[in-house]
Amino acid sequence: MDNFSFLKDFPSSFIFGTATSSYQIEGNQYGGCGKSIWDDFAKRKLNGIDGLNACNHYEYFEEDIKLIKDLGFRAYRFSFSWPRLYPENNRELNNEGVDFYHRLLDKILENGLEPFPTLYHWDLPIRFSHIEGWENRDTCKHFADFSYFISKQYGDLFKKIATINEPWCVSWLSHYLGEHAPGKKNIKSATTTMHNILLAHGWSVEALRVNKSHEIGIVLNNQYAEPLDQQDENINATKLFDSIHNRWFSDAIFKGKYPELALSVLEKHLPENYENDLKKISCGLNWIGLNYYTRSIIKFEKSEDNINYKTLRGSLKKTDMDWEFFPKGLSYFIKRINNEYDNKIPIYITENGMANNDKLDSNGEVNDSDRIEFFNLHLREILNCINEGLPVMGYFAWSLLDNYEWAFGYSKRFGLVYVDFDSYKRVPKKSYYEFSKNLLQV
Ligand code: FCB
Repeated sequence: MDNFSFLKDFPSSFIFGTATSSYQIEGNQYGGCGKSIWDDFAKRKLNGIDGLNACNHYEYFEEDIKLIKDLGFRAYRFSFSWPRLYPENNRELNNEGVDFYHRLLDKILENGLEPFPTLYHWDLPIRFSHIEGWENRDTCKHFADFSYFISKQYGDLFKKIATINEPWCVSWLSHYLGEHAPGKKNIKSATTTMHNILLAHGWSVEALRVNKSHEIGIVLNNQYAEPLDQQDENINATKLFDSIHNRWFSDAIFKGKYPELALSVLEKHLPENYENDLKKISCGLNWIGLNYYTRSIIKFEKSEDNINYKTLRGSLKKTDMDWEFFPKGLSYFIKRINNEYDNKIPIYITENGMANNDKLDSNGEVNDSDRIEFFNLHLREILNCINEGLPVMGYFAWSLLDNYEWAFGYSKRFGLVYVDFDSYKRVPKKSYYEFSKNLLQV
């Protein structure tokens, strides 16, 4: 499990790349970037540990793009920062921000990489919190305008674009579990956001299509769920978890409806006449992005809101996030999209990777052999799917750099490249070299 020589068995058209997001790497003290809900959340809940500096990718982006190219990857998934482009209000652009993404895209293209931008990876401008953020449909309208702007301004420079990164995290994790910005714990807020974020996606697709024939996708994070045991109540709890976490979003996007089971507990919290939006939400996609990390073990547990489950961790090998290695879940979801939703849509694994407690050794190197094993196991699942004829077209390792891991600040290292957060020095890890050794020959 310690080498990637099997990468040569992937089709030559398969795209290997890496992914990042704006707030996690750019550093929002640079280039006139405005504040986002994450700055506010960091101040309130994370002892002020925020993305002010992050990896200072704003100044180091040329070096970072070169690292991607030198590794042998062919694509780069990144996100546009809304508050960098529109720091103060929804009308006045920050020219430094506009220029930054031009320079970034030029550099990506100059290095022969394919850009895979995402429009929203969680850094909602702070001004929207005064209107309850994604709980307000007006925010969705503004997002459509923002999408239109991106398409007009940069649309000639990329083919594929994703609207939203992980709508489950934007809604449930951030408004029901309270673990991400804005940190609410309210079922009505969560359910409203579960709908509105999909509406924002639908309106964004419409706005993008005004200008050009982009190849549009959305990025879903699917999490495998297994019942604690075979008792009926645990099996039913697992179905409810799956319905809220996974099927809510894919059913809406592909089938234009929400799953009955989730509706049985959430429908009363949805906005009035929500059904009228479902057509727009399921307006058709050119590709689907799947982020996959781990599984959860589910146990029945009664709750006031009728969300009667609790998630537990199993006993398999774990990452530094305490997430189990469970590669089978990745092929399970690839097959599920293909069998149950759309058997033609191109599937991209837009994130997959692990946090490791990486340290520089006495030679100044980082030996992240567990990460090599993790990638190895997941890539083998993908290769098996491809050999079975499933349309998996690309894979993006999360992440290029150690970065700001949201609620965990800088304590969780996901990078192929180690970052010293004081000096901004980048040191490629062993996993980086393992990829490059094999990809550069393909
Ligand atoms: C995903 C996020 C990404 C990163 C990884 C570890 O949920 O999209 O930004 O934090 O998890």
